[in-house]
Amino acid sequence: MATPTIISTPEAGAPALPEPPEGSVTVILKIARFNPDDDKGEHWDHFAVPALPSDRLLNLLLYVKGYLDGTLSFRRSCAHGVCGSDAMRVNGVNRLACKLLMKDMLPKDPSKQLTITIEPLRGLATLKDLIVDMEPFFAAYRAVKPYLVTSGTEPSRERIQSQADRQRFDDTTKCILCAACTTSCPVFWNEGSYFGPAAIVNAHRFIFDSRDEAAAERLDILNDVDGVWRCRTTFNCTDACPRGIEVTKAIAEVKRALLFAR
Ligand code: SF4
Ligand code: FES
Repeated sequence: MATPTIISTPEAGAPALPEPPEGSVTVILKIARFNPDDDKGEHWDHFAVPALPSDRLLNLLLYVKGYLDGTLSFRRSCAHGVCGSDAMRVNGVNRLACKLLMKDMLPKDPSKQLTITIEPLRGLATLKDLIVDMEPFFAAYRAVKPYLVTSGTEPSRERIQSQADRQRFDDTTKCILCAACTTSCPVFWNEGSYFGPAAIVNAHRFIFDSRDEAAAERLDILNDVDGVWRCRTTFNCTDACPRGIEVTKAIAEVKRALLFAR
């Protein structure tokens, strides 16, 4: 196989490279590229980037964009694992770039060079580089009515709930809609019509909320041919979730609620 060209110098017009910080090592980022507006098709680019143990993978991507190739496209916003926008495949597994610390990736032996492979999420169409079309993901999310449904007169104060009742759906309130779970699911890859784990997690959050009145409706939606019964319990979703949500357990609870009463 031909040795890849490694991009390590600024593109024309980009700012000059800063001195690598003391204690940094050079890491190679192997990044999947695709631009619908050129004729290169899908290909890989390799970039040499200085990395400190305290860096996150997002810092390295920002270095590439800032100094080596301003056309590199990826989503990010909060940089703190909150907004869910920078999920991507890193060395074959779904991760948030802003939560991946270099100290957990750098080899113990400093003479060994680290190459990190970065690809867009699988199962959603790639729009450009690491940006995928999230619309099918959000369509499934919207379909399960991810909001509180109540009837009657609006109360003049908050709707009281016991701590035990709140606890029933505590885990699934943590979802940040990053899509890491859904796009790690083999059923979703092969049958894109499947609602996917994230939609079920967000349905769970309201199905088990004692204040909500649309649980039966949501369960009916998830009883569909594209609903919870497609889950084959591979646990990929639970492994991928950056919030540590027990996704497979939530899906199992929804299945149980369909078989018995919630
Ligand atoms: S359940 Fe976890 S992996 Fe799935 S969308 Fe929510 S935060 Fe992301
Ligand atoms: S940039 Fe917001 S979660 Fe990573």
